[in-house]
Amino acid sequence: MKRPYVILNAAMTLDGKISSLAGDSRISCKKDLDRTHKLRAEVDGVMVGIGTILADDPSLTVRRVSGKNPVRIIVDSRGRTPPEARVLEDTAPTIVAVSNKAGKRDIEGLRSLGARVIVTGKEDKVDLNSLLKEILDQEMEKILLEGGSTLNWGMLNQGLVDEVRIAVRPCIIGGENAKTLVGGRGFDKIEEGVELELKNTERVGSNLLLIYNVKGASSCSKK
Ligand SMILES: NC(=O)c1ccc[n+]([C@@H]2O[C@H](COP(=O)([O-])OP(=O)(O)OC[C@H]3O[C@@H](n4cnc5c(N)ncnc54)[C@H](OP(=O)(O)O)[C@@H]3O)[C@@H](O)[C@H]2O)c1
Repeated sequence: MKRPYVILNAAMTLDGKISSLAGDSRISCKKDLDRTHKLRAEVDGVMVGIGTILADDPSLTVRRVSGKNPVRIIVDSRGRTPPEARVLEDTAPTIVAVSNKAGKRDIEGLRSLGARVIVTGKEDKVDLNSLLKEILDQEMEKILLEGGSTLNWGMLNQGLVDEVRIAVRPCIIGGENAKTLVGGRGFDKIEEGVELELKNTERVGSNLLLIYNVKGASSCSKK
């Protein structure tokens, strides 16, 4: 299937957490935030799950460097994105991808706030394959996946990620229920896991940036 090139980008602690149990996700140092904003300016769209919208209320815009804001893509089966969410401010275009679980009123409410609503598939969850196809049809060829844990699993499990960029903060926070880089059900066997190939490493401020290609990734779009 033709789909956009997808880069998963995240900041995590050395023990693999992307937020604390209490919900603190401010893991990136200033230089890493600059890097993330630069990356946003280089892609056509930035995608997050509704869990991240509800937990962090991010803007997902380019503010720390000069550059164009990407289209914000929210994966939100039931159309729960709150009307006051920053992603619905008119600083950049926003797509909310819902499933048939979303009510008409919620869809109309999101549209009235300026969001483009895409209804995907017949399942409870957003059909990520058809969403990516529709995104490519709109000439968005490069997408940044900014989590969280559950959406990262959904995308990786379906083979929809081409590249992984992780900024590792030299810090350990523990917490068995704190969100990790990838949640979901997980694979039973190590050999079933998503195999990566190290492409580059770099010191970014106090963090270590690890850049991997996903082995066998099948995006047809240009990088
Ligand atoms: N450090 C970092 O770089 C970073 C970055 C981003 C987020 N975070 C942290 O991650 C946490 C949020 O992660 P999360 O796992 O709770 O939420 P999430 O991954 O942001 O969103 C998951 C939700 O997306 C919806 N969804 C719809 N279709 C889906 C599909 N096909 N596959 C997967 N998800 C689908 C589901 O909710 P519905 O069923 O309601 O649609 C699902 O529960 C927050 O604590 C945030 O701070 C950290």
